[in-house]
Amino acid sequence: MKHPLRLGVLGSGKGSNFRAIMEQINDGRLDAEVRIVISDVENAGILSLARDFQIPGLYVRPGRFRAKLEPEIEEDVVRLLREASVELVILAGFMRIVKEPVLRAFPGGIINIHPSLLPKFPGLEAWKQALAAGETVTGCTVHYVDAGVDTGKILARKTVPILRDDTPERLHARIQKAEHELLPAVLAEIAARFRGLR
Ligand code: GRF
Repeated sequence: MKHPLRLGVLGSGKGSNFRAIMEQINDGRLDAEVRIVISDVENAGILSLARDFQIPGLYVRPGRFRAKLEPEIEEDVVRLLREASVELVILAGFMRIVKEPVLRAFPGGIINIHPSLLPKFPGLEAWKQALAAGETVTGCTVHYVDAGVDTGKILARKTVPILRDDTPERLHARIQKAEHELLPAVLAEIAARFRGLR
């Protein structure tokens, strides 16, 4: 039996990209199923959204590091993803760098959405970086995740204009709109390819 592509979503924030994925799934435009949502932030919006969509949402302790999870906690994340039979891991606003345990468990099976036109402006608050650099165009990128910071193979990008007098907030909101189109579209392509392979 061919099944929808099984996704696991990791996020630390409000979860608007997760919501965009769910809306496309529920509209029948994305042949996928979110099996689990995992967050390192106990009161993150993404976890309450998961409850709204009746998807298992789990909090994992962030541990003592700022930019990554502790290895044992990452092993827990791997276990949770495996128990949920996840085939593709989506980092949707996950504010930690994933390390060996997750990378090893899902080789070529982790993608991230980043708010700039990579390879420009990797790292934090990329929209602020673009604004400060005086760019006139920025955007968002969906890419595979490797051991670097926002360095994996690029799958797709979408441009967003930077307007005169833009504020960081307005620019980020415009980029997020583009993210909500780009990420589900890339997932739909991957899901269609998976379906052909299974
Ligand atoms: C997005 O801007 C994404 O590009 C970045 O974090 C933000 C997550 O937003 N990595 P949300 O939680 O999906 O609303």
